[in-house]
Amino acid sequence: MAGRLYYPRMDQSKPAVDRRALLGIASGTLLVAALAGRQLWARERPDVIKAWAKGVVAAKDELRAGTIDVLGWQAAIERLNATVPVNELAAYLDLDRLTAGFAYDSPLAETADPLLPADIIGAAGMKRWFVRVFGLRKGGVVIPHVHNNMVSAHLVVDGRFHARTHDRLRDLDNAVLLRPTRDGTLRKGETITMSDRHHNQHWLIAETERAMTLDVGIVAVPASWEYGLKANDYNMIYVDPTVAQERDGSIAAPILSWEAAQAKFAG
Ligand SMILES: [Fe+2]
Repeated sequence: MAGRLYYPRMDQSKPAVDRRALLGIASGTLLVAALAGRQLWARERPDVIKAWAKGVVAAKDELRAGTIDVLGWQAAIERLNATVPVNELAAYLDLDRLTAGFAYDSPLAETADPLLPADIIGAAGMKRWFVRVFGLRKGGVVIPHVHNNMVSAHLVVDGRFHARTHDRLRDLDNAVLLRPTRDGTLRKGETITMSDRHHNQHWLIAETERAMTLDVGIVAVPASWEYGLKANDYNMIYVDPTVAQERDGSIAAPILSWEAAQAKFAG
């Protein structure tokens, strides 16, 4: 899994049905467009957008270098996302054009990858990290899962979600012990971050049509503790966090196959 892209690149010339058949379905998303925004940054960009993009790259570099840990990365991205004007960011990432091909004909997220400017990305490029738009119709779902060796941050850029997150306390046999950290509305301009230290499990349900997040993710992140469970090729383990809480408030969430998770949460 280390070094792999989070989701496969697809041949955009193929019809939708073929694209879907070819998808790494275990990611739970449908990749519609990749690297569609090549010309985006040719025009002049406001300082506030430049500062956000530079900050995102700097936080990634600091995490890689070990000068911040995963909690430091989460705090840095939350600060950046709290200060960037969302409408302006969406305009400069050209999200309307990038997501024009989204069909919203499935309860799963459709995704597309905007480009950050090459001079800001730097020599390391986009290796082992990504910036990705997730689009969902009303009722659409990012199926509950935990992540190994990864950090990410979803910024809502359109619409509204119901977001549930849990800390991952430890791994059991065929289950993950969770503790609830968030259960409520996630509005435009708000962010949820995750790492193996905090909010590792997330589950999003779109409450509006054309609900979108801008996700910044980094893979091949060293584990903060020794995982007892293996993730799939997309750094994901699907879980069922709806089982009853233990007396201490924790939840022993069973591991689900992709098929079982889809049937339960996106059926
Ligand atoms: Fe995730």
